Amino acid sequence: MKSVYIRGNASLYGEVTIQGSKNAALPIMAAALLVPGMCVLRNCPRISDVDHMCRILTSVGCRIDRRGRQIGIDAAALTDSRLPEEYVTRMRSSIMLMGPLLGRIGEVTLSHPGGCVIGDRPIDLHVKALSAMGAVCRDDGRQLCAVSRGLRGTAVRLAYPSVGATENVIMAAVLADGATLLENCAQEPEIFWLCDFLSHCGASIEQRGPGRLLICGRRRLHPCVYTIPPDRIVAGTYLCACLAAGGEIFLKGAPAGENDALEKTALRMGAVLRRTGTGLAVKRAGPLRSPGRVETGSFPAFPTDLQSPLLAALTQAEGESGLKETVFNGRFGVVKELNRMGAGIVVKKDTALVPGGRRLTGERVRASELRGGAALVIAGLCAEGDTLVENRSYVDRGYEDICRDLRFLGACVQDG
Ligand code: EPZ
Repeated sequence: MKSVYIRGNASLYGEVTIQGSKNAALPIMAAALLVPGMCVLRNCPRISDVDHMCRILTSVGCRIDRRGRQIGIDAAALTDSRLPEEYVTRMRSSIMLMGPLLGRIGEVTLSHPGGCVIGDRPIDLHVKALSAMGAVCRDDGRQLCAVSRGLRGTAVRLAYPSVGATENVIMAAVLADGATLLENCAQEPEIFWLCDFLSHCGASIEQRGPGRLLICGRRRLHPCVYTIPPDRIVAGTYLCACLAAGGEIFLKGAPAGENDALEKTALRMGAVLRRTGTGLAVKRAGPLRSPGRVETGSFPAFPTDLQSPLLAALTQAEGESGLKETVFNGRFGVVKELNRMGAGIVVKKDTALVPGGRRLTGERVRASELRGGAALVIAGLCAEGDTLVENRSYVDRGYEDICRDLRFLGACVQDG
């Protein structure tokens, strides 16, 4: 089992180039199913979730031409609508293949993506929205089968601004008959990037105010070449690492305007941030101050995916902090391992109370999901002594090579 070995108690100094975005790449790869030809995606992150998505696309008949971070996806001749269970159950985001397969070939069968360690992962919003557009969905709790004799544009209002449900509706609507007005949709940057990719393929998608999109169905889309944008969550993770360990780093390619909530929190904690034309400079020299209360939510609120990395940094802040998780009901799993390092965090319902000012001690700890694993690596950077983070494969789902990146930032880390 691969792991990450960290020698702690050292500040970070250096520059790292931010990889392509996992949460932009996955829906855009799914959207390539809508195009009867070869789309070429550049700057795709080399992570296991992208590997899984390539296998799923191949299983439905796509021809994949992968050259490093460039992936060609030819969906000219789709041959199957049943998604392989082994990949669907390992990757929740395979649910976002429903929209494009219904839109392109009118049917899709997949096993329930089920829950995961960060909380319940229901799909009711996806099913309700696609049904409103004319799909007939049958769900026996284990397997979901949806068919459609042609999706129809309609008015869809999401009960919650779900990122995945928003992506599914957009991908279902771009080839539907008529216009779809989507309301209360997610506003995460990944939604913009998906719409931008589809617009490059000839789709008609207009922003009609915050959380409102008007999508006019087209008969056919055409291939394009598209560059995946940098990953705001990876950039935010390394920003949290610098908050925790101290030092001065440069995040090359860090996207502007996509991490404002985190950056405001970092300024409250005493960091100095400087935006340049090529990225974000982060400096934490003096004491780390508590930001008080932080609450996750839908964009532009503080992102749930940076909740665990921030939690690790809060252990080093002077004064108590409170971090409230409002998106997933099980996203404090990493607290147990952080407390084995001496964090002293107490979770009360949906809020983690972090006493702060703690000297963490290096430990042998275990990742159980992606962002919690990254948080344990951050904790290892500021702990006294050495830390071994096991189950590194969880971290590799979203980070190309966290050891390589942290070594660029001067950390003493090794592949264990
Ligand atoms: C996307 O997941 C991201 N994944 C997640 O990133 C991210 O945490 C999440 O959005 C929120 O920003 C990808 O983009 C691949 P949701 P998604 O549907 O689409 C409830 C990471 O670490 N909900 O916005 O699955 C759900 O239970 C991953 O990179 C329903 O109730 O998230 C949750 O409480 C983790 N019914 C809330 O909405 C539904 O039908 C947010 O889920 C769907 C969702």
